[in-house]
Amino acid sequence: MEKIISLCKQRGFINQSSEPYGGFSSSYDYGPLGVELKNNYKKLWWDEMTKNQNGIVGLDSAILMNPRIWEASGHLSAGFADKLVECKSCHKRFKLQDLENQENKCPECGGELMSPKNFNLMMKTFIGPVEDEASLTYLRAETCQGIFMNFKWIENSMRLKIPFGVCQIGKAFRNEITPSNFTYRTREFEQMEMEFFIKPEEAEKWFDYWTNERFNWYLKLGIKKENLRLTPHKELAHYAKKGVDIEYHFPFGWNEVEGIHHRGDWDLGNHSKYSGKDLSYYNSETGEKYVPYVIETSAGCDRGVLMLIIDSYREIEGGRTKTTTATKEKETLLQFNYQLAPIKAAILPLVKKDEQLVQKAKEVYNLLRQYFRVWYDEIDSIGRRYRRQDEIGTPWCITIDSETLDNNTVTVRNRDTMAQERISIQQLKTYLEEN
Ligand code: GAP
Repeated sequence: MEKIISLCKQRGFINQSSEPYGGFSSSYDYGPLGVELKNNYKKLWWDEMTKNQNGIVGLDSAILMNPRIWEASGHLSAGFADKLVECKSCHKRFKLQDLENQENKCPECGGELMSPKNFNLMMKTFIGPVEDEASLTYLRAETCQGIFMNFKWIENSMRLKIPFGVCQIGKAFRNEITPSNFTYRTREFEQMEMEFFIKPEEAEKWFDYWTNERFNWYLKLGIKKENLRLTPHKELAHYAKKGVDIEYHFPFGWNEVEGIHHRGDWDLGNHSKYSGKDLSYYNSETGEKYVPYVIETSAGCDRGVLMLIIDSYREIEGGRTKTTTATKEKETLLQFNYQLAPIKAAILPLVKKDEQLVQKAKEVYNLLRQYFRVWYDEIDSIGRRYRRQDEIGTPWCITIDSETLDNNTVTVRNRDTMAQERISIQQLKTYLEEN
């Protein structure tokens, strides 16, 4: 993890937030490469849901909502709380779950621990100028509540028939007691959630369908199969009838990246009761009326990005590059799936002293930047520039040399095989698209 965290900082992927002030607990910023990677990841998920799957539409709902929603959803009760224990001597606080094997002793100072208290994870905030009960609300703890709020509007305005789904990507907030493992557990994070509305009697079928689809999606992204597994929930979330986690083998152990939940009619049922509005579904063809059941797929975007970086990280000791200086060094690569790579191609004049080469390279850069995220680099030897691109996962390096000036061809080097092909500038766009 130390190597990953260091690479993320050095190469502009992810860094602690509030850097000039020494950081801020559990908050992270995505730099120029991190935001490209994250956006590519979100785009692939969005396309999977709204194009590849049937009957799913998108939504972007507000983070701040009516606080009664969180009463109805159960998030203000003990079901959405961690057990917190405090040391009587040093007053440090711990999550009971993390202390399972300790005998009522503080792991920091050995002092006696107080009895556990419930600690609700909702993040409070105040609306308007007066900080009293009337203005209290919460930052959303899961994006899906916005989907439930809009179930009727979307069904009617889009004339949808069950089964159908609504997906959303957005920030969620939880006052975690022990944020940990870099971006794995934080207080502010992004979720990619999809709620699939179904007939109650079809719940098992759709639960299995979504479990398979979501597991296979990670394989399609190129995540190594041996690093993925499914773990059925033993302890169910307060809203769930059944659940399964998709787990990834992180350096700190097997941990959840996505949960698939059978939420039954928990949400629409409770919101109907609390709001007094009927949120059931009416099938005008059959005359049936019911509160739909929901199968949810809930993926963590930040955990997903961390998984992508870890899974694509390689270190190669010498040998890969044949130049004498390079073979002494250890080479680092991020072997991202090409669709996820933050930069698709680097444009490199062989030498920067040759003005004609530089001008030609800039022409190629200006041509390709219309279609792809590309990068121009003329600093250092060509070998070093190749390795800099390997390290951030750029699939292609395009080199402009003296032959380019004669016949308008360039060399295209592949990140993984290091094979170089000579290609005409005219064919570059198609070549990159096809590969
Ligand atoms: N709507 C259901 C729901 O929110 P969850 O299992 O609590 O279910 C879903 O969260 C996903 O959100 C998790 O699989 C994880 O990827 C992500 N997530 C949850 N808490 C997180 C945190 N504190 N930091 C980063 N990601 C988190």
